[in-house]
Amino acid sequence: MSDDPGRPGDSTRAVHAGERAQPQSDAVTTPIYQTSTYWFRDSAELRAYQEGRIERDEYGRYGNPTWRAVERKLADLEGADDAVLFASGMCAATTTFLALLPRGGHLIVTSDCYRRTRQFCREYLVKLDVETTVIEPASVEKLEAAIRPGTSLFFTESPTNPFLRVIDVPEAARVCHERGVRVVIDGTFATPVNHRALGDGADLVLHSATKYLGGHNDLLAGAAAGGHEIIEELRKAVGILGGCTDANSAYLLLRGMKTLALRMARHNETALRVARRLEAHPRVRRVWYPGLASHPDHATARRLMRGFGGVVSFELDADLEATMRFVDRCRLPYIAPSLGGVESLIEMPVVMSYWDQPREERLRFGITDSLVRLSCGIEDGDDLVADLEHALEEAR
Ligand SMILES: Cc1ncc(COP(=O)(O)O)c(C=O)c1O
Repeated sequence: MSDDPGRPGDSTRAVHAGERAQPQSDAVTTPIYQTSTYWFRDSAELRAYQEGRIERDEYGRYGNPTWRAVERKLADLEGADDAVLFASGMCAATTTFLALLPRGGHLIVTSDCYRRTRQFCREYLVKLDVETTVIEPASVEKLEAAIRPGTSLFFTESPTNPFLRVIDVPEAARVCHERGVRVVIDGTFATPVNHRALGDGADLVLHSATKYLGGHNDLLAGAAAGGHEIIEELRKAVGILGGCTDANSAYLLLRGMKTLALRMARHNETALRVARRLEAHPRVRRVWYPGLASHPDHATARRLMRGFGGVVSFELDADLEATMRFVDRCRLPYIAPSLGGVESLIEMPVVMSYWDQPREERLRFGITDSLVRLSCGIEDGDDLVADLEHALEEAR
């Protein structure tokens, strides 16, 4: 109750006072629209919206102005008609599969890919009788051979995780499109700064925006960019499946993306230096980095990519224990999963993402005891190189 007759009570005022005016702000940055729903001035406005005569938001699962700013920015960077955000990179992949694959359909994926994506195919898509064929990455011949009547999608990362295989997207798209198969590229490792897969013929590009797009190891989000029609299919699926992001993460993503090109230039430069130094080091057995002439896809990478990214994978000439000692001696990179942030991160897949996998299973995917994945951050390159060399010496 209000003390002042004629004035609404404290709770009514606490809920409503000051809220409906919402003047157009002249803020330079896009505000965080922290709301789960949007109000209509009257029923005529609601009807106009339902009839498609006005564009606006209705409910938080279907859209938010902060996300929209990110979606427009990503679409622009990817050279896409449109883009849509998801709660995580995995959510982008699973929603895409559920939206685009028919019951009983067939999907082709590559063996070198984020493990959970393969796991989704094996454990969940089978429930919809969707069959998955796993092929060697970067082999257009194997891709062609795997396509059969009923194949509807080819999904691959490029570069892949952790061996940074680079797909010949124009060739893959030619082979797939001749047979009516859509091409979906997970461009998380590349970002639109290093490769624009849509321009090379892909139908859709996905991102774990958690990685380079966000760039600061402080948010989880996913994204897809492509033509109007395919993005509308995915937007509808997000609205039904519910894997939408939140306004705070969208704001962090928006802020992170403003420095994407600057960060990628540093990641590219440092990783190339690190890869060259590691390759020349006697304690390193092998380095995988698409910028090195020794990488199997170096020629493809040089043809398609403007930079080779910030991740370097390498195998030490050492056993499990000695490799762990090396990782422990590194002072700059954090031992942590993920990649693509300003902080360098280092991990051994055998004790991180493949920990629960039987030895034979992980070896099938090339995950040996001495494999290390390093995500070069934006620290000074000299410091990172010195740190790695010091750790290699100390861990003898
Ligand atoms: C290439 C790639 N795609 C997708 C994902 C999944 O992304 P998220 O962790 O944002 O769900 C990852 C995660 O590590 C990844 O490396």
